[in-house]
Amino acid sequence: MLETRSLVLLSVLLCMSLVSAFVEELDDSFMETRAADDTWLIKFYAPWCTFCKQLDPVWHQIGSELKSQGSLVNVGKTDATTHTGLAKEFRVRGYPAILMLKKGVKYNYSGPRTKDGIIDFAHRVSGPLVRSLSSLQLFQHAMNRHVVMFVYVGATSQLKGNYTSAAEELIAHTYFFSATKDILPKAISMPSLPAVVVFKDGTYFTYTEKLDGDLKTWINRERFPSYFKIDSYTLYAMGESGKLVVLVLVEEKKQCEESLRYKGLVERVSANHRHLYSRSFYFGVMEDSDYISGLVMGEVTVPSLIVVNLANDGYFVPPAGVETERQLMDFLNGVLNGTIQGQGGNGVAQRLRRFVYNTKDTLMPVFRQAPLLGCFLVGFPLAIGALFCYLFRKAQCAKDNEENIRLLAPPAQHHNKLTSKKSD
Ligand SMILES: *[C@@H]1O[C@H](CO)[C@@H](O)[C@H](O)[C@H]1NC(C)=O
Repeated sequence: MLETRSLVLLSVLLCMSLVSAFVEELDDSFMETRAADDTWLIKFYAPWCTFCKQLDPVWHQIGSELKSQGSLVNVGKTDATTHTGLAKEFRVRGYPAILMLKKGVKYNYSGPRTKDGIIDFAHRVSGPLVRSLSSLQLFQHAMNRHVVMFVYVGATSQLKGNYTSAAEELIAHTYFFSATKDILPKAISMPSLPAVVVFKDGTYFTYTEKLDGDLKTWINRERFPSYFKIDSYTLYAMGESGKLVVLVLVEEKKQCEESLRYKGLVERVSANHRHLYSRSFYFGVMEDSDYISGLVMGEVTVPSLIVVNLANDGYFVPPAGVETERQLMDFLNGVLNGTIQGQGGNGVAQRLRRFVYNTKDTLMPVFRQAPLLGCFLVGFPLAIGALFCYLFRKAQCAKDNEENIRLLAPPAQHHNKLTSKKSD
């Protein structure tokens, strides 16, 4: 009896040591003590964060899977609230943050927090920046696996140098391939070599510096398919593309006839009028409208149509019903030429409204379940705030009067500025 028990204890201990062998707990000394050439996948967590806790078992699986695959990627995690030096070094802003460190360069993971998504990220970043496709079979294999695929075609050149340096930055988001002309299918024609080509939406496009601008910007802009199912992580990441996103919001489960009609309409316009819209818009379907509710600060009707500008949290809704291709195109043209007024945005007033909305959204469930706690949560900061205001006013009154009259002029809002980056 005693023996079985100690056996159990022993195996539990063994298991625990195995688990911790897959994932290392890191602290502030990490940057000094690590070997310079090692590649690391690190999760930054906070003890109170529930999303971090949900990620814990996934993280152990990732650790063990990468080990068993013989990957050279080391997996670690660190409590960012106690090891603040390390979190600062990696510029961690929210939890959980997933980052990779390779040859001193840090890569931020922004995709869905699934095992497969994160392992793919680890493989992509830890592998070569540009993967050479040496045969037609390899090319076709890659084509089957990637919905959007960038390929450099040709010999060494300045363009190849630019391509590699773009890869250095964007490998966190997409794969980069290279090939010679002779291994590509004969049907693929290129105006000249060398060339950078993107394969997507059942066709391919060649990059031209004159029309498309800087290569890195172009890759960032083109790294999504023009019509696809979008989740909130992807939508957020699409902000950097500088394009507006035309979204059909539909039910998560059983979709009604109208949803299907909207989806068909948007897909048709994205495919049939690519030359008109592909430089300005992405198109997609979204089943989870939480992100959009947050953006418009209210319930969204499902199914419905919305155009979002992720660069400034602005959005556009059709002024009337959209039934036909023509009506959808009129709406999109109106958005592009400014006749349809944008809403939302990230001006001061909008930010304030969003803050109030988010706070309400967080506190409402608390009120419903525990009204007293809710009152305390709201009342306590209010009381403190009021006290401060009172003391401040008292101090201010003593000063000169002119000092008091200072208007807070809100900065102008830029609804249509597509190229502006998220400001926070
Ligand atoms: C490579 O990038 C540089 C700097 O961005 C640019 O001036 C040059 O034209 C690019 N070369 C090619 C071949 O695209």
